[in-house]
Amino acid sequence: MNRKYRKTIIAGNWKMNKTPSEAKELIEGLKAKVGRQKWCDVVLCVPFVDIPVAVRTARDAKIAVAAQNMHYEKSGAFTGEISADMLKELGVKYVVVGHSERRQYFAETDKTVNLKVKAALETGLRPIICVGETLEQREAEITEQHITAQVKVALLDIPAELVRKVVFAYEPVWAIGTGKTATAEQAAEVCALIRAVIRAKYGARVARSVTIQYGGSMNASNAQELLSQLDVDGGLIGGASLKADDFAAIIFAANQ
Ligand code: PGA
Repeated sequence: MNRKYRKTIIAGNWKMNKTPSEAKELIEGLKAKVGRQKWCDVVLCVPFVDIPVAVRTARDAKIAVAAQNMHYEKSGAFTGEISADMLKELGVKYVVVGHSERRQYFAETDKTVNLKVKAALETGLRPIICVGETLEQREAEITEQHITAQVKVALLDIPAELVRKVVFAYEPVWAIGTGKTATAEQAAEVCALIRAVIRAKYGARVARSVTIQYGGSMNASNAQELLSQLDVDGGLIGGASLKADDFAAIIFAANQ
């Protein structure tokens, strides 16, 4: 990470875990451990129904709340969907866009990712855009082309002043929930590639201000090595964000 130009962001992605009462308990536990630390931004990506209690419980701490998805339209006949305005009114600051589970199970595409990124930014939400290759793509040595295309399409028609608000998460699909972490070198290489794609389109000043996270089986024991890489500016953490102790340990690892 390079603290001079960009913020370190440690985000917990709870996925479909924690009822509202469990959410409150976890956030209380986290507050007791990390209090008002100053070295990174902490974000909790919680299920929709947990948002009100999460915002309320996190209010007096340096913890922001994110949604895990949203629709790109402002309103309308989209049964079961949630808009950016709805999230914003509840005090949500970030939204995860294009997580590989949404791409895999809910037909999310690079095109819908781009529409969601636009809608989020227009509403003042910061998108955390997930990109990553499958094992087959890595083995076929097309990781670079795949990530480049995902980043380029996600940023179509996004003006430079808004790109600074975007967060990227490099999440190799083969490392998510598998216990297989990318090596620090692999993580660093792809995070640097993402920055290079941003630099080619928006220039060096914009590129160096964008936070790029690594995600995929990050935990208390591997976080420090991953986060010490120059272009790895934080983590998007699934499994290890579900217990206050484990997640707090990662937040502390970001302070090395
Ligand atoms: P994991 O999930 O840390 O459980 O691998 C990461 C993610 O999906 O964001």
